[in-house]
Amino acid sequence: MVDDIDPDDPDEDGFAAYERLVSQGSELSRVLLTYQAGIDEVMTKLTILRREYAHSFDYNPIEHLTARLKSPASIIAKARRRQVEPTVEGVREAITDIAGVRVVTSFKSDVYRVRDVLCSQDDLTVLKVKDYVAQPKPNGYRSLHVILEVPVFLTDRIARVPVEVQFRTIAMDFWAALEHKIYYKFDRTVPDELLDGLYSTAVTSAKLDDDMELLHRRIRGGEPRPVE
Ligand code: GTP
Ligand code: MG
Repeated sequence: MVDDIDPDDPDEDGFAAYERLVSQGSELSRVLLTYQAGIDEVMTKLTILRREYAHSFDYNPIEHLTARLKSPASIIAKARRRQVEPTVEGVREAITDIAGVRVVTSFKSDVYRVRDVLCSQDDLTVLKVKDYVAQPKPNGYRSLHVILEVPVFLTDRIARVPVEVQFRTIAMDFWAALEHKIYYKFDRTVPDELLDGLYSTAVTSAKLDDDMELLHRRIRGGEPRPVE
């Protein structure tokens, strides 16, 4: 998620066009305010579910929750990389991970369990799903990505904000966090001989998830059960 902008880039005009998005300031910062509110709404929903699981069920499938708002510098860098039209509207259309929430679950089945419970809430709309758990990326990355549209109630209107929610197990999160470190260490081009090694650690971590899931089913039936 760390993107660099080179202020000495020869493409001064292109840079200036994107930079204006921020220096004009108010419009982008107003939009970012709504994205932060979108994060807050989704985090509140997940926190409510997590408390209910902890209070009323025999186990809590949500291990932890994190959220981040993409910085203006990262938004601009991504807009330039993808040659997005340098307007607030262009950015809103093309960059759907300005608001990001991550849900780390205990077991693999919990990835889908928590997704189902959250996404069935009727004030949310699912815009897009990428299931890299069922179909991992070629490097071995696994996670379930859902882009939700969340209503945010402002003084004079309702803004509909996209929020990218990533659902993954502790094992998937462990792999993704360390792979990310290695990836940036090599400036986004990991040497081939390391790619094989990384992929095999992803397979090992997927096997751990599957073994844990089997144990979990044998011991607890695999479902959080309400406690009286
Ligand atoms: P981005 O431009 O990276 O946002 O990719 P995208 O728009 O094609 O979306 P995708 O759903 O593939 O990835 C979105 C996010 O998932 C990324 O910003 C990362 O947080 C995470 N992600 C995707 N692929 C990988 C990966 O190979 N390794 C790690 N560590 N994270 C990944
Ligand atoms: Mg992203």
